[in-house]
Amino acid sequence: MLKNKIIGFIGAGNMAEALINGLISSHTILPNSIMASDRDVERLAVLAEGYKIKAVNTNTGIAAASDIVILAVKPQDIAAVLTEIREEIKDKLIISIAAGVKTRTISDTLLVPVRLVRAMPNTPALVLSGATALFIGEGCTKEDEKAALKIFDAVGKTVVLKDEALMDAVTGLSGSGPAYVFVILEAMADAGVRMGLPRETASLLANQTLFGAAKMVMDVKRHPAELKDMVASPGGTTIAGLKKLEEGKVRATIMEAVEAATLRSRELSKT
Ligand SMILES: NC(=O)c1ccc[n+]([C@@H]2O[C@H](COP(=O)([O-])OP(=O)(O)OC[C@H]3O[C@@H](n4cnc5c(N)ncnc54)[C@H](OP(=O)(O)O)[C@@H]3O)[C@@H](O)[C@H]2O)c1
Repeated sequence: MLKNKIIGFIGAGNMAEALINGLISSHTILPNSIMASDRDVERLAVLAEGYKIKAVNTNTGIAAASDIVILAVKPQDIAAVLTEIREEIKDKLIISIAAGVKTRTISDTLLVPVRLVRAMPNTPALVLSGATALFIGEGCTKEDEKAALKIFDAVGKTVVLKDEALMDAVTGLSGSGPAYVFVILEAMADAGVRMGLPRETASLLANQTLFGAAKMVMDVKRHPAELKDMVASPGGTTIAGLKKLEEGKVRATIMEAVEAATLRSRELSKT
């Protein structure tokens, strides 16, 4: 469904680069079917040269020439971009990755009918291991949904939400989640150092353990609690460590972190 389509990025920053990299390296689409614009002309030139995509001087040029327009500017820049491209965008598929910007806000600003998808990716998309949630707006076709899935599957795993209000929970879980995990990784490495391991060794062991455990849950398709039980032998080392995690209320703390970030996202998307 992306065959013979032109994908245009407005905003050629980190997230646009992650998507462009994913789309090209997964052979989802050829570089000459991708174009991008950015107000930072040097940044645009570097991206165009690096990925052999077409650099376009204006946002209206992208809107006019693309079948699918991906809005990849910061949320505070979205309104200006929408007003600028309004005349060129009628009846196209627009995908917005701007965190916290509702489809209603976009369609109210555009004032012309478009097919709109809202996406919430996360930073591991930069290494093609992202987690993205999509909300498929009214008026989108099944083909639009498939196209959006294909684009974000190129940088990781994608889910489709039926209710746009759940985007705040996505922000709290997978959007903010990498930061929680970075803190856990740092703490595990520090703990290893405290117990006498060299820093580099401790970091490698911590990182690979988290990566391996997550991969195991996904590959063997068993409940994490079941896998946890399998490694906690009676009277052993793991159950001694698990007791400390329980004493530190690790589960409640993580649940509260996701809740706090979700509530903050709700608050921010109102403004
Ligand atoms: N990074 C993430 O992990 C992540 C995760 C989920 C969602 N998102 C969303 O993805 C979007 C992009 O994030 P990012 O991290 O890729 O941002 P970024 O690196 O700052 O990229 C945005 C680019 O758009 C350019 N720009 C701003 N206004 C423009 C305009 N009017 N016309 C053309 N270009 C314009 C910026 O130029 P200047 O530098 O000159 O401003 C910048 O080069 C954001 O809305 C963010 O909420 C990001």
